[in-house]
Amino acid sequence: MLPRGPHVHSSTMALGVPKSGRRTASIRWWQAAILSIVSFLIGRIASSSSFNCMSIINNTSATIAETTKDTNNGTCAVEGSFGPPNDIVIDFDKVKNMDLEPLNRVKNLTSEEYVNYMMKPPGKEHYRLQSYLSTTYGDCRHLTDVGTRYVTSALAMGSNLHTPVWTFDLVGSSERKRAFRGKTEEEWKEMADNIGVDIVFHNLDLLKVSDEDFRKYMGTWFIMLDTHHLPDSKPFERQFFQRLLDVQYRGMLGLDDIRLNVEMKKWWKELQDSGADEKGYKTYDLTKIGHGTGTGLVDFSGRVKIVAAEKTD
Ligand SMILES: C[S@@+](CC[C@H](N)C(=O)[O-])C[C@H]1O[C@@H](n2cnc3c(N)ncnc32)[C@H](O)[C@@H]1O
Repeated sequence: MLPRGPHVHSSTMALGVPKSGRRTASIRWWQAAILSIVSFLIGRIASSSSFNCMSIINNTSATIAETTKDTNNGTCAVEGSFGPPNDIVIDFDKVKNMDLEPLNRVKNLTSEEYVNYMMKPPGKEHYRLQSYLSTTYGDCRHLTDVGTRYVTSALAMGSNLHTPVWTFDLVGSSERKRAFRGKTEEEWKEMADNIGVDIVFHNLDLLKVSDEDFRKYMGTWFIMLDTHHLPDSKPFERQFFQRLLDVQYRGMLGLDDIRLNVEMKKWWKELQDSGADEKGYKTYDLTKIGHGTGTGLVDFSGRVKIVAAEKTD
């Protein structure tokens, strides 16, 4: 910040500046005064315009997401935001007729036995639905996959070859090795890189990470949750869901196996009954285009549209 004019003037006087020097000092006073006013005005304009910019960013994150499909100078402008990139239309016929090519590209990166599951049709397995969401709407933001196992769902979610997938499993879990088919993780990563699919493995307890880290890991428009399926007796799913509510998550959460067992059926019913009105999310049963053991979608964004000839609950 520039010093104030009078202060400059009086301090030069006090130093016994000669007359000509006083003239110079008085010119400096005026220069400094003008500069102060100009810099003050520039500061005001800058701060008000950056305020306006921030408001625009906050109010139109969806618009930005719509237009920022790709990385900008190596960074993803929408990374960390919850809003879907667009209205998300889940068209049952389109999912049923989803091109197999994206899954074909990545199928040999999962375990041999899971290739078979990966390629099963919608209604039997949910990988085609994940591939549809990734291919139709995936932007440069990572997608989050909770429950890695043999990387099958993470690969389906990354099958558009430009959306990174962060997949989470228990501390110490090494189940994913089966997907490497005898190769090292580094060799597998190199194969994935060559195909163009970007999978990042995390082994940590999502209930113990800080709020800041949790927000970062969940900072995207689509999360797939597929873990213990015992929301009452081993209540990870319930606690994870509560954490999403706590951070005011505004994206979409896919739930696998909502019809698998009594606990999952009960929890899904609770989400359907109590959640929607009280907590501001909507639930959709996507089993007909998902997994035969039940696929649910919890939409916190209000931007999901279902197009289906048949009734969906
Ligand atoms: C049904 S498998 C996931 C299958 C995988 N999503 C797919 O479709 O390819 C369940 C996985 O969830 C993992 N899991 C269980 N509890 C978890 C937790 N609290 N956090 C992260 N992963 C967990 C298990 O280790 C197991 O690998």
